[in-house]
Amino acid sequence: MKMKILGLSLAAATLVSLAGSTLGASEVPTSAPKAYPAGEVGNMVKLGEDILLHTDTHPLTKDLVGNKLQCISCHLRGDDGKPGTGHGIGTFIGTATAFPAYSKREKTVQSLQDRINNCFMRSMNGKRPIVDTKASMAMATYITWLSTDMPMKMDTKRPCSPLNSNRWAKNAKKFAKIQRKATHANYVNGQKLFEAKCAMCHGADGAGMGSFPPLWGQDKAGHWLANNTGSGVSKLNKGAAWVQSNMPLGQGGTLKDQEAADIMLYVDAQPRADFDLQKGLLPASKMGYYNSKVLHEKHSVRSNFKQFGLDVDAIRGDKKIK
Ligand code: HEC
Ligand code: HEC
Repeated sequence: MKMKILGLSLAAATLVSLAGSTLGASEVPTSAPKAYPAGEVGNMVKLGEDILLHTDTHPLTKDLVGNKLQCISCHLRGDDGKPGTGHGIGTFIGTATAFPAYSKREKTVQSLQDRINNCFMRSMNGKRPIVDTKASMAMATYITWLSTDMPMKMDTKRPCSPLNSNRWAKNAKKFAKIQRKATHANYVNGQKLFEAKCAMCHGADGAGMGSFPPLWGQDKAGHWLANNTGSGVSKLNKGAAWVQSNMPLGQGGTLKDQEAADIMLYVDAQPRADFDLQKGLLPASKMGYYNSKVLHEKHSVRSNFKQFGLDVDAIRGDKKIK
């Protein structure tokens, strides 16, 4: 009897520590659960996984995508090969536990579907899917499944996984400080490093090769290939944070701070689509309620440099960016 009481109180103590602010390393999953859930939930998990792998060609999402990327281009596959289980910044493990979460960008509390769908307007250079449509629900179901058995940790500052939240904040700040001091010499160094460490997969022209995704530019028909200027990776500080954590593929964490900064100074100074929030939204009659207090937002390569006190012409040493 005494033993039983002891056992119960031990179990309670474990629960309390799990609900606390930081998870111990042994409790954080590093892969998707081994088996799919049963029934229709399992079907939606599988559909969501398929969309994350083939976003620009999947029948349910291709019309909403305006480039040649997939969600896995930035939310990398992990050791188990599943989308979003990579260890670097951008993992989806723990993401579902953060919602509902406050977002400074929209100035509202966002649902997981809101957050997923906003990546379509920016990183996918497309249109925001309608909340609760099959594609939107399927992606949210897959991403939620990756947080199986993790405790809720609603984020009051930013809409991201507890495994991403502090890493984004800390590294974005670190790289903002470095980028504010950038000169043309950093750009030249960035190009040199890009050609040595990145071009063998992404192409010297940034257009990508085979299954290696494009980083900037347009195809011959004038279609944009990569993320637009409203996306996180197009920002000089967040782009450097993401690349330092995830690239070169399989060698995340090997670039020095100044190397990652210079490479992304170069990459983010290349042509990419302007962002206009209104163009990423479907007509109000179709879209339903848009959960944001911010209805107008525009960015260009030029304004993304200005944000760090930089003139893109002086950094590039030419006037090729409009
Ligand atoms: C070009 C890179 C890129 C692509 C492609 C991309 N994302 Fe993201 N995504 C990001 C970045 C960067 C952030 C973090 C941005 C920030 O917090 O400022 C992010 C954040 C998120 C988040 C918040 C969760 C978290 O833990 O950080 C979700 C959910 C998400 N993306 C879903 C998607 C989905 C679904 C797709 C495919 C439809 C997609 N993303 C495609 C770059 C990308
Ligand atoms: C061995 C090949 C390889 C190398 C080398 C490599 N990448 Fe990547 N990169 C990839 C792949 C593959 C992805 C997408 C992940 C996927 O599809 O699984 C990616 C994704 C990206 C993305 C996000 C998606 C996009 O298209 O914008 C960026 C940015 C990026 N890489 C930048 C770099 C930079 C900068 C370097 C050099 C420091 C680099 N990569 C080196 C293969 C590579």
